[in-house]
Amino acid sequence: MRKYSIATLEGDGIGPEVAQATIRVLREACGDMLDFQMLEGGAGHYQKSGECLPEDSFTACRDADAILHGAAGIPGVVYPDGTEVGNDLHLRLRFRLDLYANVRPIKLLPGVTSPLRGFEGGGIDYVIIRENTEGLYASRGAGVLLRGEMASDTLVVTRKGTERVAEFAFNLARQRNGALRDGKRRVTVCDKANILRTYAFFRQVCDEVHARHPDVEIDYAYADAITVHMVKRPDFYDVIVAENMFGDIISDLGAATAGGMGISPSGEIGDHHALFQGAHGSAPDIAGQDAASPMATVLSGVMMLRWLAQRHGDARLGEAADRIEKASETVLGRGIAVPRDLGGDARCSEVATALCRALA
Ligand code: IPM
Ligand code: MN
Repeated sequence: MRKYSIATLEGDGIGPEVAQATIRVLREACGDMLDFQMLEGGAGHYQKSGECLPEDSFTACRDADAILHGAAGIPGVVYPDGTEVGNDLHLRLRFRLDLYANVRPIKLLPGVTSPLRGFEGGGIDYVIIRENTEGLYASRGAGVLLRGEMASDTLVVTRKGTERVAEFAFNLARQRNGALRDGKRRVTVCDKANILRTYAFFRQVCDEVHARHPDVEIDYAYADAITVHMVKRPDFYDVIVAENMFGDIISDLGAATAGGMGISPSGEIGDHHALFQGAHGSAPDIAGQDAASPMATVLSGVMMLRWLAQRHGDARLGEAADRIEKASETVLGRGIAVPRDLGGDARCSEVATALCRALA
């Protein structure tokens, strides 16, 4: 029976706790199908060694079947240019493994309360596809710092980068059942094409890709306007595609409407590699107290199993993913173990235990 190697970077802060809780749940659902390789990396490792991502950790991530990441970052641990070391771990993997589609499902689960009036569990279900390797992030580590008087970063939009993320978005829309509001398979292009040529180019390339997917509707929303629509009519959306920085911003807004960062998963997917982690940060203020919610990382594990299942044609993994998602809906929906960020008082380990029991 095929086993899968999961390169695991626990990282900093709550990273180890949520990663360990997720490994417990994945092992309960998958038996011995998954082989977790624990790797060094993050701001804490940098403080000890001067490296945030050791080369042997990178090689292990490159050669594994998938990567599971807890969280990284320690406040105040920064490089001389002021940028955070912890984030660098993540960004090095993103760029070196070319993880060009950052998939952020915005899904309100049964039992989870949205701050949006009139939306109950199951009433919000769309996916943000964030271009993950260029845009404003192309300048990372390469921006201009001049004499302490001027700093600049460049917004980069390439045809290849846009084509591949738009293809990803349209193909995803074809696999889904359309927007909740009207059942229409729809890709919404989020940009500022009215103002900047880079975004007008982004939109033009998305239009060209759309021509290859006529069965999917294309829709457009400026990055400012979409923040209003995501609050007023979230059920209109099916798949949203956006440049890197815009995607980074609107995906947190989307997460907030679906229960918050503590339950918001992400999958960063390239043609040959993928990294899965909760969309939250390392939450140093609650680290080491067994207080964090593992849900975002557990649901990222569900995304990982589904990606592996599709990639390797292994139905066992897809079934395990479905069982974990069902167990999550049971544990949260029946109030068996509700983490603090969702209004309960369950500890990280208690949520994991409840999920394992529901799976058993
Ligand atoms: C995210 C985070 C990252 C980003 C950080 C951790 C590098 O905010 O994944 O949304 O800025 O993209
Ligand atoms: Mn972000």
